[in-house]
Amino acid sequence: MFEGIARVPGDAILGLIDAFNNDTNPNKVDLGVGVYRDTQGHTPILASVKAAEQRLLENEATKSYIGSHGDPLYTDAVLKLVLGSASPVLAQQRASATQSPGGTGALRLAADFIRFNLGERGIWVSNPTWPNHLGIFEAAGLTLHHYPYVSSDNRLDFEGMLAALEKAPQGDVVLLHACCHNPSGFDLDKQQWQQVLELVKRRQLLPLIDFAYQGFGDGLNEDAYGVRLLAESLDEVIITSSCSKNFGIYRERTGCFILVARDHEQMENVRSQAAITARENYSNPPAHGGAVVAEILNDASLAEQWEGEVEAMRSRIADLRTAFVDALEPYGLKERFAFIREQRGMFSYTGLSAEQVERLRKEFGIYMVGSGRANVAGLSSDCLDYVAKAFAEVCR
Ligand code: LMR
Repeated sequence: MFEGIARVPGDAILGLIDAFNNDTNPNKVDLGVGVYRDTQGHTPILASVKAAEQRLLENEATKSYIGSHGDPLYTDAVLKLVLGSASPVLAQQRASATQSPGGTGALRLAADFIRFNLGERGIWVSNPTWPNHLGIFEAAGLTLHHYPYVSSDNRLDFEGMLAALEKAPQGDVVLLHACCHNPSGFDLDKQQWQQVLELVKRRQLLPLIDFAYQGFGDGLNEDAYGVRLLAESLDEVIITSSCSKNFGIYRERTGCFILVARDHEQMENVRSQAAITARENYSNPPAHGGAVVAEILNDASLAEQWEGEVEAMRSRIADLRTAFVDALEPYGLKERFAFIREQRGMFSYTGLSAEQVERLRKEFGIYMVGSGRANVAGLSSDCLDYVAKAFAEVCR
C-alpha cells in the first residue's frame, strides 16, 4: 500500500539545522532557524529557567496528567503576561487559556477549534508568513487567502494589507502577527493597529493573533500592544502564545491557546470545546515547560531575573541590527540594507533572492531561509564583517 507514497523534501526551516551541522566550513554562520544565540553562537538555558528547574527537581511530587487545559498556575500567569495583569478582559472573566505543546500546538488547536465550531471558512494570512501557518491551516481544512504585507521594494505594505482585508467576507479569520513578524521583521505601529481594529470590527472578521516573540521587539508590554487593544475592544479574539523564545525553552514545547469571548458565560462554552480539541489531538499537554514558566512568573525575584534576561536578549538583537548595517558601509550597502535597523525581533527579510541565498550557503557557509529571511540573532561581532563581505559578493 505504501508504494504510491512519494518522498517529499524536508521542512525548509528545520532542514537547515542538519545542513548547517553537516557543513565542515570553519567559517560557517547559522542565520537559519529562529532560535536566539549568544555571543558564542550558543542557545543558552536562561539562569532563571535553571533556577526554576532546580526547584522543580526538589519539589515536583508527581508526573500524573495535568488535564486538557494544563496547569492553571501556568495558564493564569500566561494570561497576565499576554493581556496585562490589570486587563479588563481578565476582570470580566472572558478569557480562557489552554496550555499547548508550543506555539505550533496552539495554532493547530486554534485551526481545529475554528474548523469544528465555526465550520468551513477562509483564513487570511500575510504574504509572506511563517510557512508552517499554511500547512497547519490547510491540514485543519481551512481555506487559505493571502493579504499583501511586504512590497516588492521590501517595505511594509500596509495599504495593500488593508485593501485586501476590506474584501474579506464577513466571518472570515485574519491571522495577525502580534510583533516581530515572521519572516519579515516589519511590525505595525500603534496607529496601524487601530486601523486594523476598525477594519476587523466593521467587516466582522475574527482575529487570530500569533504571539510567538513577546519581549523580542520593543519589550514585554510594548509587544503586547496590538493583542491587548483587540482583546479589550472586541467580543471575540483568538490568541496563540509561545514561551519557546522568551523563556528559551524551545524543546519543552510550551505554548498557550487563548480564547477571548463576549462574556463569562460564552467563554465557558468555548472553553469546554477547547478541552475537547486538545483531548482529541494529544489529550494532555507536556508539563515540564509550563511548570518552569509558572515557577518563574509566580515568584517575584525569579520573574525580575527573567525580565532582565529577556531584555538582554532583546537588546543584543537590536544592537546586532545596527552593527550589521554599519558593517555593510565599507561595501556601499549601508543605504540599501538600512531597513534592517527598522525591523523588529529575530528576523530580517533581507530582500536577497533564492539564488543569492544559495550562493551564501555554498560559497560562504552562511545559512538563511530561501525566502531571504535571516535570523539576526545568529550574527556576532566575530562574523559581522565576514557576513557583510559575503552579502557584498552576492549583491555585486
Ligand atoms: C522559525 O521560524 O525559524 C521558528 O519559528 C522555528 C520553526 O518552527 O520554524
